[in-house]
Amino acid sequence: MTVSSFKSAYKLITGAGATSHVREEVERLQMKNPLIVTDAIIEKTGLLQQVIDLLGEVSYGLFLEVEPEPAFSVIEKCKQMFNQNKHDGFIAIGGGSAIDTAKAVSAYATYTGVLTDLVGTNLVPEKGAPLIAIPTTAGTGSEVTNISILSDKEAQVKKGIVSDYLLPDVAIVSPEMTRTMPASVTAASGIDALVHAIEAYLSVHASPITDSLALGAMKMIAKSLPKAYANPDDMKAREQMATASLMAGMAFGNAGVGAVHALAYPLGGRFNVAHGVSNALLLPFVMKWNKIACIDRMKEIAEALGEQTNGMSENAAADLAIEAMTRLCEQVNIPSSLKTIEISEEDLALMADDASLIDRLLKNNPRRLSRNDIYAIYQEAYEGRSVQ
Ligand SMILES: NC(=O)c1ccc[n+]([C@@H]2O[C@H](COP(=O)([O-])OP(=O)(O)OC[C@H]3O[C@@H](n4cnc5c(N)ncnc54)[C@H](O)[C@@H]3O)[C@@H](O)[C@H]2O)c1
Ligand SMILES: [Fe+2]
Repeated sequence: MTVSSFKSAYKLITGAGATSHVREEVERLQMKNPLIVTDAIIEKTGLLQQVIDLLGEVSYGLFLEVEPEPAFSVIEKCKQMFNQNKHDGFIAIGGGSAIDTAKAVSAYATYTGVLTDLVGTNLVPEKGAPLIAIPTTAGTGSEVTNISILSDKEAQVKKGIVSDYLLPDVAIVSPEMTRTMPASVTAASGIDALVHAIEAYLSVHASPITDSLALGAMKMIAKSLPKAYANPDDMKAREQMATASLMAGMAFGNAGVGAVHALAYPLGGRFNVAHGVSNALLLPFVMKWNKIACIDRMKEIAEALGEQTNGMSENAAADLAIEAMTRLCEQVNIPSSLKTIEISEEDLALMADDASLIDRLLKNNPRRLSRNDIYAIYQEAYEGRSVQ
């Protein structure tokens, strides 16, 4: 067995009503004036007010300008507010976009250089102010990872700040916070969690610890995502999805994600496609490519996704895994091809150039990909799902 380390948020608080612990965590972390980082939609749903009510007498500030797939400019604005009002901690309430904004600002608030200095791996010089993450989507796992993903609008690419100093101090994962998600967000973020689990399981850096989290998450997502999508008030399904997303986050936060994410990034960076949708569009085609490198593990994925593989060849069982993933994407109405989201065939070459540079993720993938292999996968994804 090779040596591997495992990291997560310092403390996890999970289950229905877990947010009721927010005040004691604020006090434990000695935050006297935290900045709540969120967006106007979370304010409208009433979720923000629920957390504010729980804070009681604690004084706080509000940053409501988080945008999906946050741009560098959002981080600059949030940093300015944090420093101007002398905040001493963060409470991020929202999806991956809000949590990633707070993580980036915690790294950047006291830094005297420019934000782009911190983009890359292990470039954050010290731990910033403490951070409590309260996810309202069940997808990114950002509440337990050491990554903040931002959009560089000028270069039209998504970039990551990766540092263990970004690991949140507390993740409060309370399923009722996800109840108000629109169906499209339930679907996209849920597929993102599925892809985290699948890519972590197939990663060359997978370990027995990440494997059990990844397989457990896959089982829960296969059963619960269609239910949560079909009925937003199915709180059992919401609870399973919130927990599965956390587990998938712990799996990929340590094993890494691979080519699905690398090929999805240019869709987010250039065309603002929601992160989970971009992953879903690439998933079957990258898996078809990966199959010969990890056929035994693909069979195990098929089983985790609820397929019967008794008496089947490994080859047929691996194909069944791809079918099961594809069916799940269809059940939750994710677009089925790049052309249906109005990406033109001429864009594929530039996307392949961008994706081939994302070595940070491509190196985790079980099968190597050249720039031309990536281009061929984009061509398949352009035509769409129907993976024979
Ligand atoms: N840091 C990580 O480890 C990591 C991992 C995966 C993805 N990401 C990043 O996270 C971002 C995507 O995050 P996401 O999928 O959670 O979506 P999101 O945070 O971008 O939110 C999507 C939309 O849903 C709304 N929303 C969120 N929760 C809601 C709720 N409960 N009720 C009503 N509306 C709600 C938001 O206001 C927003 O408009 C991307 O930028 C992606 O790159 C980060
Ligand atoms: Fe993701």
